[in-house]
Amino acid sequence: MRSPFSRLREERRPSVLVVDDVQPNLELMEAVFQKAGLQVLTALGAEAALDIYASHQIDLAVLDVMMPGINGFELCRRLKNFSEKEFLPVVLVTALNDKKNRLTGLEAGADDFISKPFDTQELLTKIRSLLKLKELHEQLDHSESIIFSLVITMEARDHYTKGHSTRVGDLANEFGAFLGFPGKDLSVLKKAGILHDIGKMGLSEAILKKPAALTLDESEEIKRHPTLGEEICRPLKSMKDILPGIRHHHERWDGSGFPDQLAADSIPLMARILAIIDTFDAMVSIRPYRGKRSVEEALSVIEKERFSGQWDPELTGIFIRMMQLMAKGNYSYA
Ligand SMILES: [Fe+2]
Repeated sequence: MRSPFSRLREERRPSVLVVDDVQPNLELMEAVFQKAGLQVLTALGAEAALDIYASHQIDLAVLDVMMPGINGFELCRRLKNFSEKEFLPVVLVTALNDKKNRLTGLEAGADDFISKPFDTQELLTKIRSLLKLKELHEQLDHSESIIFSLVITMEARDHYTKGHSTRVGDLANEFGAFLGFPGKDLSVLKKAGILHDIGKMGLSEAILKKPAALTLDESEEIKRHPTLGEEICRPLKSMKDILPGIRHHHERWDGSGFPDQLAADSIPLMARILAIIDTFDAMVSIRPYRGKRSVEEALSVIEKERFSGQWDPELTGIFIRMMQLMAKGNYSYA
């Protein structure tokens, strides 16, 4: 019979760390997992488990809860902390199948539970679905990092735009924090800042780098980049929250922007923030037709044009205040 893990095994056999203070229990689990095609590492107690975790690649951990010294809950907490950004699924094995212990397990970060004496099929089903979940996490991270690398590569080709997106991302993050956004929103804002111009990848380099004035058709072509960017990022679920920022970063407060001619509050807040920062960074960067402006000069221009209909005037005022409070030459722009 084809093992449920055979597809994964063709690439690299997933490794499971099994922790129990009773040797026969370890041997039993080891036999079950090995039969299912997994690599198994066993640890007789939490201390040994931490040592193994530090020196091996572990894809999933199955922990007995009742162990002397560091128990399964505490070990789960530590492993989750150590694994940081990487998703390490943890299954707790417990004879104490009551609600209180499950809650303690969930608080410790456990992803699933199995009761003793365990049902082999149930255990393998849970492990299989958690390993699938981990695989998806990794694919997602991988896809995201490819997109981020593409943006950096695209910008690096042009001396004048080099670093623009990452600076916009960093400053958007800074501004979001100044506005009191929660951490989760800050990372969305930062990501949107980095990727706001990703649609330019779909435009001709000759137009993007054209030193002379653009024809009407060429200007229209450039205006496609927000919708192109949205299309590039839309297939990735993890990008869902940043799509409004990408699509609308060229809308204007007075409704004369593009692509949808949204006005005032109907422009998503993320896009209103990016519009200000995008312009600010362009001002303090070197352009083919001029040198860079100082932060003070750029802020003074933005202040003068605050009510010109380009940006959200209230948000612009707050941005200027933040920059005056924080910049004072502390920021370094290209
Ligand atoms: Fe743009």
